[in-house]
Amino acid sequence: MTPVISATGLWTPPHSVSNAELVESYNAWAEQWNEAHKTDIASGAVEAKTPSSVEFIEKASGIKSRYVVNKTGVVDPNIMRPIIAERPNEDLSILAEIAVTAARHALETAGRDPKDIGAVICAASNMQRAYPAMAIEVQDALGIDGFSFDMNVACSSATFGIQTAADFVRAGNAKSVLMVNPEITSGHLNWTDRDSHFIFGDVATAVLVEAEDIAPKEHWKILGTQLKTKFSNNIRNNFGFLNRADPDGIGKADKLFVQEGRKVFKEVVPMVSDMIQSELERLSIAPTDLRRMWLHQANANMNRLIAAKVLGHEASDDESPTVLDEYANTSSAGSIIAFHKHSADFKPGEKGLICSFGAGYSAGTVFVEKAG
Ligand code: COA
Repeated sequence: MTPVISATGLWTPPHSVSNAELVESYNAWAEQWNEAHKTDIASGAVEAKTPSSVEFIEKASGIKSRYVVNKTGVVDPNIMRPIIAERPNEDLSILAEIAVTAARHALETAGRDPKDIGAVICAASNMQRAYPAMAIEVQDALGIDGFSFDMNVACSSATFGIQTAADFVRAGNAKSVLMVNPEITSGHLNWTDRDSHFIFGDVATAVLVEAEDIAPKEHWKILGTQLKTKFSNNIRNNFGFLNRADPDGIGKADKLFVQEGRKVFKEVVPMVSDMIQSELERLSIAPTDLRRMWLHQANANMNRLIAAKVLGHEASDDESPTVLDEYANTSSAGSIIAFHKHSADFKPGEKGLICSFGAGYSAGTVFVEKAG
């Protein structure tokens, strides 16, 4: 059976935090920290925290704001993390809840009854718990039969999820696969780290991958997918159940997101642009036939370089749209938000590329063509 993308869905949190609000809270936190450590700073034992700046953030990343599931905690200099109440096991988990909302959006768009779905994949960077799988909870909440599981390929999870879903359809394991990307990145972000406190935002996306014969008339053909991984410590998060016994472990910087941003930039740009170019060749698609690239939303300068290398000229907003300014980096969901928000104008026969990349390193490409 030939797999296609039938529909996508999006859930956006209600609270937005501007760079100005974020910098104000970080700088207030840094001032308090410097005051509390003034003796050690004076003796040279520790370095004083330097202030963050709105101008730096926008210039270095292209980010102007981010959505979060809890604003009160992240902008309070005395808290600096989201306040998310634990829920009883009988209640739907917050990660499943946002995934279900995005999923319903995709199902409604496709006119699909949950009973006709055969599998659910939850592909995201940070699962809320070890088990049971988030995907199984989503499956249960939607009343879906079949099988479900979680997968984590960091920021590349969605393209890896689309290929996995497409493989299930090809193999006849399922005719309709729901792939969700709930990302509460505010929980893994160190809001007191000046180098990265501005990077991430929360969101949830969903993609419905189905056999062509049951898909709605308007859908997206999958022309080809390609995945790649190459080990690197340059983006890492050591949080896990093996360090639970270390009383100082939880909350220490390396138990949250850490990165060597410059190295990531330098190493991932060529890896991704080479991968896109060889896929274009393999699929016999000329760069001029590519109407749009929905790239992973991590950094505007990175996307500018990747797009220019592939197209041979500086990409316009139409060729490589951004959602980074409004959403920041939403990990696996970024390229899917871009696709969801910037694809309605496609005419049948027009081709585009969904591409994600990130920790691992990992990268995935999904070339699509509008049908209908
Ligand atoms: N406010 C003001 N200045 C800041 C700052 C902040 N919040 N954070 C860093 N700076 C300063 C640094 O101290 C440094 O100053 P120096 O030159 O005097 O030492 C300068 O700005 C440059 O810092 P650097 O970290 O090298 O910035 P950069 O231009 O590389 O941009 C990133 C930082 C993270 C935005 C960029 O490297 C990036 O996006 N990399 C790829 C990230 C990525 O895709 N990650 C994947 C995550 S899934």
